[in-house]
Amino acid sequence: MLDKSRLNKLVDILIEKNVDGCLMGPSHDVEYLAGIKPFSDERFRGFYVLSDGRWFFICPELYYEEVRGALGEEAHIYVWSDGEGVLGCFEKAKADYSLDGKSLAINEGVRAIDLIDMSEYMKCRYINGDAIFEELRIKKSEEEAKLMAEAGRIADRTFEGVIKFIKPGVSEKEIANKIKELLIEFGGEELSFEPIVASGPNSSKPHYNDDKRIIEEQDIIVLDFGCRYKGYCSDTSRTVFVGEPTEEQKKVYEICLRATTEAKKAVREGIAAEEVDKVARDIITKEGYGQYFINRTGHGIGMAVHEAPYIKHGNKQILETGMCFSVEPGIYIPGKFGMRIEDIVMVDGDKARVFNNSNRDMVIL
Ligand code: CO
Repeated sequence: MLDKSRLNKLVDILIEKNVDGCLMGPSHDVEYLAGIKPFSDERFRGFYVLSDGRWFFICPELYYEEVRGALGEEAHIYVWSDGEGVLGCFEKAKADYSLDGKSLAINEGVRAIDLIDMSEYMKCRYINGDAIFEELRIKKSEEEAKLMAEAGRIADRTFEGVIKFIKPGVSEKEIANKIKELLIEFGGEELSFEPIVASGPNSSKPHYNDDKRIIEEQDIIVLDFGCRYKGYCSDTSRTVFVGEPTEEQKKVYEICLRATTEAKKAVREGIAAEEVDKVARDIITKEGYGQYFINRTGHGIGMAVHEAPYIKHGNKQILETGMCFSVEPGIYIPGKFGMRIEDIVMVDGDKARVFNNSNRDMVIL
């Protein structure tokens, strides 16, 4: 169903930014506005919204029923068949809506080759629409927050479940499969990304995804996973130990945990995103591990697992109530080991609402 208030918000953003219209290809933006699940293929589909409030859709015949069902009877939909191709629709739409010379903001779902074809027919001034679509989805309503919280709860239960399964002799792949199984069993509708299970020396690679290694005694294992619940994502990381960790590992774990905890405590509306990063970075740097903190502190999350706001040095964006993001400072020592503890939070007035609450104490298996 088309959400009229979200559509109005998009129109307001277009007006505020002085842009004549926008075009969205298959993407979370379309899912957010119309509930049509994104998936992209070679057949062009586009949702056009103009700053005067008018809107239309260009759609291949194959998807017409789905699009008509979501947008309603009054919607203006241009349909094209495989035999005709899409170009005629570009020409008609341009004439009907006088698009020549207008500024049109493009979202990430539009393929470059479609844009090249379209620009032959619609002589618009095409601009990068990232800032527009980030603003559209960046602040979550109370209703969205509930879905994010539930996605987080499913991930937390999955962590508590999977640690019972981890022991020397099982492979990273088997652990990843167990995580997938539990996420779905506990109510997730799909994965928000492929789980990361990085054990032993692989733990120093933040986005390790090879999965071949077998767990051994004295391993550190970084687990990073999440699911989607009613369209909204979770994403959490925990670091666990097989057998007693070394003194250095205990020290590094304590630093990572303190960096995550203090960064979450710093979250409130009115401060810049980079200030949250600074809290975590100062702690890790002061302890002498600054050079091993190679990632940003966090990323926004919602319908997409990575979206605005990005919690990193140089991002002056002011945090507002409803913005959701990860807090995941880490220490990655090449060839040795790595660790991180990651929670999703939402800015809620002068504090953070935390969507992950699984055990953060040192788990020794
Ligand atoms: Co993350």
